Amino acid sequence: MKKTVLVTGGAGFIGSHVTVELINAGYDVVVVDNLTNSDGKSLDGVEAITGVRPPFYKVDTCDAVALAKVFEAHHIDCAIHFAAYKAVGESVAEPMKYYMNNMLSFMNLIEAMRRQGGRANVLFSSSATVYGEPDACPVTEASPRKPATSPYGNTKQMAEDVLRDCCAAYDGFYGIALRYFNPVGAHPSALIGELPIGVPNNLVPFITQTAAGIRECLTVFGNDYPTPDGTCLRDFIDVVDLAKAHVSAVDRMTGEKMDTKYEIFNIGTGRPLSVLELISAFESANGVKVNWKFGPRRAGDTTEVWADPTRANKCLGWKAERSIDDTMRSAWAWQKHLDGC
Ligand code: NAD
Ligand code: WQD
Repeated sequence: MKKTVLVTGGAGFIGSHVTVELINAGYDVVVVDNLTNSDGKSLDGVEAITGVRPPFYKVDTCDAVALAKVFEAHHIDCAIHFAAYKAVGESVAEPMKYYMNNMLSFMNLIEAMRRQGGRANVLFSSSATVYGEPDACPVTEASPRKPATSPYGNTKQMAEDVLRDCCAAYDGFYGIALRYFNPVGAHPSALIGELPIGVPNNLVPFITQTAAGIRECLTVFGNDYPTPDGTCLRDFIDVVDLAKAHVSAVDRMTGEKMDTKYEIFNIGTGRPLSVLELISAFESANGVKVNWKFGPRRAGDTTEVWADPTRANKCLGWKAERSIDDTMRSAWAWQKHLDGC
């Protein structure tokens, strides 16, 4: 019998890609999203790609009563939790917005899974932000978590701890935290991708909008970092590769193949790229020029953070496969789709 996966935040950037890959892998998917940072069009894209329109509930996961109704309608074999706010700077200005939404939504989901009875499998979308400025790269899952530098980062650390404690305390309760590095790109069909609202904070949407003429010039934040070209190093992970890691993690949980009740995996490529290298990769993959200039460092940026993904490679049988050229082509195709080209 097909297993059912609940995807909270499933209309969003990563959630929509994960929904596609879960459907492709033979899962039934139920999507919950309050559409605060997405629109229903992503589900049109999911349907166009897979031929399946998953059941969708416009529900705020902070509303425990509304969430319970979803569980009345479906038996959930595994829940993946994406429903959160994610703007680091905004979280510094409005911490309670982040603590209320990101924590309450996750705790409600855990309670709903517990109340359902039987084995509970919960997959949490964590972030490399929990490593802060690492002492050494690449970071492994054993690298220390550093004190969070933003309320957003703090919600990721706290939610990991909530999940760990629930796995330790409750019989039949299992959890996986996936720590994503820098998710970028879009589905190769250009039917789903990241929905930029306002001026992008992240590098790739800023690159694509500059190439499209929406932004005049990209500022590269800092050229005096202790790196080969003076710009920061990151681990840019293609969103389709990232989505496939979720399928592997769901297989592991629902197939009851976990080594311990709570597991953490880094999801990255293991290949650092500098900001300038990424801009060059975008230009050469797409044959377009990006207008950019150097500016001062951005407060709070870490010099370098990139993954050792060995544990995910071994335990999940997953590996990042898409080349940076593929990823940059998909990012540009998505930008053109948004611009109606
Ligand atoms: P996104 O904003 O595109 O998707 C999140 C979705 O959750 C949105 O559709 C939004 O409408 C929904 N949502 C938010 N609060 C909700 C609530 N209370 N109830 C129901 N729906 C709610 O973001 P994304 O980039 O797809 O990120 C998904 C998850 O992955 C987030 O938890 C984010 O913190 C985490 N993450 C993202 C990145 C990244 O760079 N994109 C990196 C690491 C971790
Ligand atoms: C990447 C590099 C910038 C924009 C963020 C979150 C992190 C995680 C992933 C959720 C940096 C440089 C950027 C620009 C630039 N999200 N840059 N000009 O900061 O590594 O990670 O997203 O968990 O928590 O902090 O990603 O894309 O913002 O920046 O030079 O206009 O690009 O300085 O070196 P970051 P980013």
